[in-house]
Amino acid sequence: MKRCLIVTGGGDCPGLNAVIRAIVKRAAREKEWEIIGSIEAFNGILREPTEIVILDEKAVSGIHYRGGTILQTTNKGGPFAWPIKEKDGSWSSVDRSDEMLRKMQYLGIEAVINIGGDGSQRISQKLFEKGCNIIGVPKTIDNDLTATDSTFGFQTAVQIATEAVDKLVTTAASHNRVLILEVMGRYAGWIALNAAVAGGAEICLLPEFPYDVNKVLERVNRRFERDRGFVIIVISEGARAIGKDFSILSEVEIGNENRRLGGVANVLMHQLKEAGCDHSMRTTVLGHLQRGGVPIAYDRVLATQFGVKAFEMVLDKEFGRMVSYRHPKITSVSLQEAIREPNLVDDETALMNTARGIDISFGD
Ligand code: F6P
Repeated sequence: MKRCLIVTGGGDCPGLNAVIRAIVKRAAREKEWEIIGSIEAFNGILREPTEIVILDEKAVSGIHYRGGTILQTTNKGGPFAWPIKEKDGSWSSVDRSDEMLRKMQYLGIEAVINIGGDGSQRISQKLFEKGCNIIGVPKTIDNDLTATDSTFGFQTAVQIATEAVDKLVTTAASHNRVLILEVMGRYAGWIALNAAVAGGAEICLLPEFPYDVNKVLERVNRRFERDRGFVIIVISEGARAIGKDFSILSEVEIGNENRRLGGVANVLMHQLKEAGCDHSMRTTVLGHLQRGGVPIAYDRVLATQFGVKAFEMVLDKEFGRMVSYRHPKITSVSLQEAIREPNLVDDETALMNTARGIDISFGD
């Protein structure tokens, strides 16, 4: 029997289980393959005793509509930066990649499918350079990967954010308020932009377009002077005023390359107050609700396509590559290309033109 290992790394994302199920079901059609999963990203391999599970058709039956990942995940640590607590309580990290590769060889693992975002795919590339037969599957609600037209989980997050806007409208209209909704996306404004257009928000503030508080206030006032006296502002967690820094909840930690963003909705509310806004204002931070629950049909379909393609890439020995959706094809790109640069909103983005066309303000 040949063994293929599935790993889910980084933040959880609606559709992960649909990818796992698709890989297992596709592999079941080839008699000589056994699929196993590592618990909590690569930690399952690195831990002693090893934490791996056998994934047969029974194990993945009916999981396609379940959120999260049956394999669990983490965005901390990993084979190249395994966190170690020193005697004085401080943290350092060690590279355990060689040890992990030896262990995988001992376990008879011939191929690895690593489902994750940019951080996970950087790990995939480094493992590939060390001789690992690895394939990447892109995963992120942020949609911030250039190497694929779209990632599963993103549309579910947009749907949840849009429903939140719809709900906030009722309170905003009843109380004549300015309601500010903070959504995820890290340094990419895709979730905010899509939810603002779908939800009919007046103002949308994105990481890619630092805002001028006075322009935001001007638009708020204009809206109150006209017909209806309420405003919905959708703000991306990575947005910031011109000349100001990002709103950070915690800095980079050992084993976690990302700063935690958050709190910008409150920052904006105070900036507006200081600039003279006297309307009643409230903030909502949508947070992890955007990653939770059942994936919408689009994401289940895309996730299933990615899973089947990933295993077919194992069969074809297309290692060192990541599955990619380039409409209308499910294809692949080299991992190196996949991690080269992030996918950000810019003025060339068709939806930006649409949004400006319906007079959404970006505070710029
Ligand atoms: O990358 C997905 C994402 O949800 C981002 O939108 C967000 O900034 C981050 O992960 C939150 O990470 P955590 O779950 O570690 O707080």
